[in-house]
Amino acid sequence: MATWSAPGKVFLFGEHAVVYGKPGIAMAIKPRVMVTVRESRYHQKPNSPYIAECFRLMDVKGSVYVRSQLPSSSGLGSSAAVTVATLCAINDEFGLEKNRAEIADLAHQVEMSAQNGRASATDTYVSAFGGMVLVRGNEKRRLLPPQNFSLVIGNTLVSHSTSEMVGKVADLRKHSPDIANPILDSIAAITMRAMYNLDNQKELGSLMNMNHALLDALGVGHPVLSKLVLAARSAGAHGAKTTGAGGGGCMYAICSKSSRNRVAGAIEGCDARAIITTIDTEGARKE
Ligand code: MEV
Repeated sequence: MATWSAPGKVFLFGEHAVVYGKPGIAMAIKPRVMVTVRESRYHQKPNSPYIAECFRLMDVKGSVYVRSQLPSSSGLGSSAAVTVATLCAINDEFGLEKNRAEIADLAHQVEMSAQNGRASATDTYVSAFGGMVLVRGNEKRRLLPPQNFSLVIGNTLVSHSTSEMVGKVADLRKHSPDIANPILDSIAAITMRAMYNLDNQKELGSLMNMNHALLDALGVGHPVLSKLVLAARSAGAHGAKTTGAGGGGCMYAICSKSSRNRVAGAIEGCDARAIITTIDTEGARKE
């Protein structure tokens, strides 16, 4: 029997712009998914298409047990975390000797087939390696120096569809390239500025606020996201923005240790769920 876990993630900067080859910064967060795999002659058919695909790809049979600290379908990378943890547990239980980079690649393949050929490799890479990662088009992902921010994530509990939101930006780009392209360029400039100011939380906060406004301008906002962002800022956050595809899902705020409970309270006061967290630097680990 082998138990492994893998963390979720937030996009700190650059979501949507990364679809067009521009830079983005993503970070692993503390909440994890734990997966236990046991070799067995009788294959228990898993409910999750991600887990089923892991067993199929690795060509093994067994039973699986999953516990998750991550809300699903909220943009926090829970499917990537389930996939990475399952592959690591299979790898361990069956002695397959894959390294972390191979697991990250396999996890991306699993997400591609479970999501009909559309999945970014960011979530699976961040979940496998942990830390803070710079993503840019097809270039190799690069680990950035990890920063110990206090993050408060606000889950709107409004369901959203990443492909619908990506399609919305694609439509805007098609019909109004003169408006959409400069917005995507500005998001890229903000991401680069953030990369050189990772140790300056006040500066990061104002860059987050600008990035949020530009996501709204691209049409991927939602009234509840705006409400949570404004509530977090009023409660003393350095900055707050949507994270991930938008149209629902989650926002996050960066705040000082002394204001994080107040910011979380302000988010909960809007009938949303708050998660106080920080960076995870371990990635996938054996439990
Ligand atoms: C979704 O978490 C992030 C997007 O940029 C889509 C993607 O990168 O695949 C909106």
